[in-house]
Amino acid sequence: GDEQLEPKSNHITWHDSNINRKDRCISNQHRSCALWLTGLSGSGKSTLAFALEKALFARKVSSYVLDGDNIRHGLNQDLGFSPEDRKENIRRIGEVSKLFVDAGLFVIAAFISPNEKDREMVREMFEPEDFLEIYIKCSLEECERRDPKGLYRKAREGKIPNFTGISAQYDVPAHPHIVIDTEHLTIEASIALLLEQLESRHYFM
Ligand code: PPS
Repeated sequence: GDEQLEPKSNHITWHDSNINRKDRCISNQHRSCALWLTGLSGSGKSTLAFALEKALFARKVSSYVLDGDNIRHGLNQDLGFSPEDRKENIRRIGEVSKLFVDAGLFVIAAFISPNEKDREMVREMFEPEDFLEIYIKCSLEECERRDPKGLYRKAREGKIPNFTGISAQYDVPAHPHIVIDTEHLTIEASIALLLEQLESRHYFM
């Protein structure tokens, strides 16, 4: 069904800004877009997100990273890892991402976002041209071998409930716009590929 939430109060009115998104994009000299990175813990989402932000900055393209671990320290500190909480996590980030896109920026959202239906919910918040789903592809075996935070080990020991890939599922994206295979690509090659994709899709105007 329609999952769009209505305001709790009836006495709320939308107020339009005097500056529209098109003006902001002309002033910035680039389009704006949500780049949604999805993948297992340890697949390389955060690394690529921050490397891409740096590469865009060098090109004078304004972007900002929203990262799972960071956002869960602030905006979403009240949320855990149950399916309901993950859904709310993704919904809020979708809404925040919409604000960034309206502000004329590239937003790079790096969240496991394991559930296809939650990713679909976010996708539907945007016009198709304003949203790219980017699958950060890496096998569970390799993520577990990397285990940068020691979380897979703890999860295997049963110390972390609902751990994605171990005791909670990850739905592999069926039709991502872009796939980055971090098992076979260097960070540099991955960033080059992403920039090339944005370029060929005319995001830099
Ligand atoms: S989600 O599924 O999109 O809501 O997750 P996200 O907000 O991206 O948060 C993932 C980071 O939280 C840490 N962590 C866990 N991940 C998965 N499952 C469980 N149970 C869990 N508990 C804590 C983990 O460090 C994730 O960071 P990344 O950067 O993905 O490795």
